[in-house]
Amino acid sequence: MTPSEAKNILDEWVVNPNLKKHMRAVGAAMRWYAVFFGQDESTQDRWEVAGIVHDLDWEKYPNLSAQGHPYVAVAFLKTRGLDEESCQAILAHASHTGQPRQTLMAKTLFAVDELAGFIVAVALIKPEKNLSAVDVASVTRRLAEKRFAANVNRDEIIQGAAALAIPLEEHIAHVIDAMRDYRTDLGL
Ligand SMILES: [Fe+2]
Repeated sequence: MTPSEAKNILDEWVVNPNLKKHMRAVGAAMRWYAVFFGQDESTQDRWEVAGIVHDLDWEKYPNLSAQGHPYVAVAFLKTRGLDEESCQAILAHASHTGQPRQTLMAKTLFAVDELAGFIVAVALIKPEKNLSAVDVASVTRRLAEKRFAANVNRDEIIQGAAALAIPLEEHIAHVIDAMRDYRTDLGL
């Protein structure tokens, strides 16, 4: 599956423009990290795809049972030929599945997911409503503010960076960078 095929599948499954943005942002962050970790181009594509489709069933099947997110998405993606490593990473990004995050891809997907959402929230409260005024300091400040974007799990962001052995502030800088590269696509 190519990133552009993944974007088409995303458009078929997801209506909510904010969820679409989130998924594309995670795709951007996954590609950025694939480059950072020295992966070849076809692996960069696979990592981006995993990011783009990771919440494919979130809107239609939000229940967290074996008949819900992310099992439904993975079952569908397998029929579209998505590779095993990507399917595992998508299952493991959702903590309730209890699936271990053994591969670098799985660890990265978990590490960028909540943070990408949080960075969008920080961008949207800036007067510019985009990424131009977002920096590590503003993201760190908002993370400490528990009432801001309260639905974002801070512990998962911290655990994710730790599992990659990347200091949190560097990780935040990486994901901001990744999203800036795709800012037109993300409308940010
Ligand atoms: Fe997500």
